[in-house]
Amino acid sequence: MPRPDRARGLFIAFEGGDGAGKSTQAQLLAASLQAQGHRVLRTREPGGTPIGEKLRSLVLDHGQGEIDARSEALIFAASRAAHAVQVLRPALDAGEIVVTDRYIDSSVAYQGAGRRLGTERIRELNDWATDGLWPDLTVLLDVTPEQGRRRRTTGQAAEDRLESEPDDFHARIRQAFLDRADASPGRYLVLDAAGAAEDLAVAVLQRVEQLL
Ligand SMILES: Nc1ncnc2c1ncn2[C@@H]1O[C@H](COP(=O)(O)OP(=O)(O)O)[C@@H](O)[C@H]1O
Ligand SMILES: [Mg+2]
Repeated sequence: MPRPDRARGLFIAFEGGDGAGKSTQAQLLAASLQAQGHRVLRTREPGGTPIGEKLRSLVLDHGQGEIDARSEALIFAASRAAHAVQVLRPALDAGEIVVTDRYIDSSVAYQGAGRRLGTERIRELNDWATDGLWPDLTVLLDVTPEQGRRRRTTGQAAEDRLESEPDDFHARIRQAFLDRADASPGRYLVLDAAGAAEDLAVAVLQRVEQLL
């Protein structure tokens, strides 16, 4: 549950599978809000702090040795705990708009459903890790495994440890994201990631403006 004592700022998370367009939309939203004169902090997970970036590399880069599912879940949660206390809460307390590229739902989907650790357990773990810091709005970019793979493999970078999981893993993730949104529709904006980036950006901005 969101903490009722956080009066200021606005917390927006982008979620969805790899290649959904989260980074693209987070950047477009932050730019639009900044152009309107808002103070915006754009950040990402895992990462966002020095310790978080180290944990990110540990858990996403290939060649770190075996990482079992529980360790992976705890590393993501540890990175998020640092992010919440060092970056997210201070910015929100200062009245900023915080836009994060991934947050708790990614762990619920990837570790809870993808790794089959249980979505409720992972939700609880992260509720504890963040001391109950939940977004005001989560934008879910719903992408099929096929389209996500196509997008992230056209072009440059090699796939990271999680991206290179098979399509059935990504199908479980997709369903878990949709289940989260279905459970609290008022706190989600679900968009078909197949839309044009500019159209998606307009829809996101319209929804965010209702919250300002
Ligand atoms: N709406 C869109 N339509 C087509 N291609 C897109 C769209 N949004 C992003 N892309 C492209 O797809 C790739 C993945 O986008 P990205 O924003 O990095 O996704 P994510 O951060 O969710 O993994 C990039 O090459 C990006 O330019
Ligand atoms: Mg990205």
